[in-house]
Amino acid sequence: MLNRSLVSITDFNREEYLKVLSVAADFELNSYQNLLQGKVIATLFFEPSTRTRLSFESAINRLGGKVIGFSDSQTTSVTKGETLNDTIRVISNYAELIVMRHTLEGSARYASEISRVPIVNAGDGANQHPTQTLLDLYSIQKTQGTLENLKIFMVGDLKYGRTVHSLLMALSEFNTTFYFIAPDELKMPVEYKLHLEKKGLKYYESKELEGSLGEADIIYMTRVQKERFSDPIEYERTKNAYVLKDSMLCGTKDTLRVLHPLPRVNEIHPDVDANPKAYYFQQTENGVYIRQAIISLILGLK
Ligand code: CP
Repeated sequence: MLNRSLVSITDFNREEYLKVLSVAADFELNSYQNLLQGKVIATLFFEPSTRTRLSFESAINRLGGKVIGFSDSQTTSVTKGETLNDTIRVISNYAELIVMRHTLEGSARYASEISRVPIVNAGDGANQHPTQTLLDLYSIQKTQGTLENLKIFMVGDLKYGRTVHSLLMALSEFNTTFYFIAPDELKMPVEYKLHLEKKGLKYYESKELEGSLGEADIIYMTRVQKERFSDPIEYERTKNAYVLKDSMLCGTKDTLRVLHPLPRVNEIHPDVDANPKAYYFQQTENGVYIRQAIISLILGLK
């Protein structure tokens, strides 16, 4: 991982996922370590974020580093027409590592080919969100005691949801059985299903959420992503396709946990929040430890 960019979850292999999870567990025990003293990390958010940006910045602060960057590209010279190429060339002179979120699929890979310092992809359009995936793996391992042989239900916007795309690729290394629950308009893209078929992994597809959850180890809910739709009518038709309610968790496994990358809109009813199977807020805390681990391993500090 040393000095390497993390653009796609497949840039790391299974052993490297497990290494990140192990270092994150150390940070969970002792999150405040001065490993980044004297170092500068840039966080460039061309698209809105709460969790990813602030958990990266919390991670950097806890490690004694300094953060530069922006949360709104409208305050930068992008508004004067500066290209992503020039922006990355310049900022890679100012920081030891760049964390970047962008609306365009492929932008993080492009940045990694220009940058003098490693790029960590904090989400590129509907493509990938690898640091979310690593915190999802950490959350699954913590709650299930293993990553192997689990039944994972992915629900909602499986077409545009970059978190489910990255998570599927990572979990395909752990003999997962997948259940995809989505309306026709938002089904898991065929290339991901082909990947599972090539690996000999089982997946099932359904439009029904209610009554299907008894087998689940993890329910991974997702938001229907308004910002990715070119047709507002299609968004209106699908936005409330699934709403998980507390009553729907009756008869599910005691060990089941409900995850969501957040933000949620309507897809998890607030009455689920008090259920011990709801794990999405603890999941956000895990993001700090995972991002501490990723930065430390890429910069060779662990
Ligand atoms: N999970 C996630 O990416 O959240 P934000 O968009 O708030 O960063």
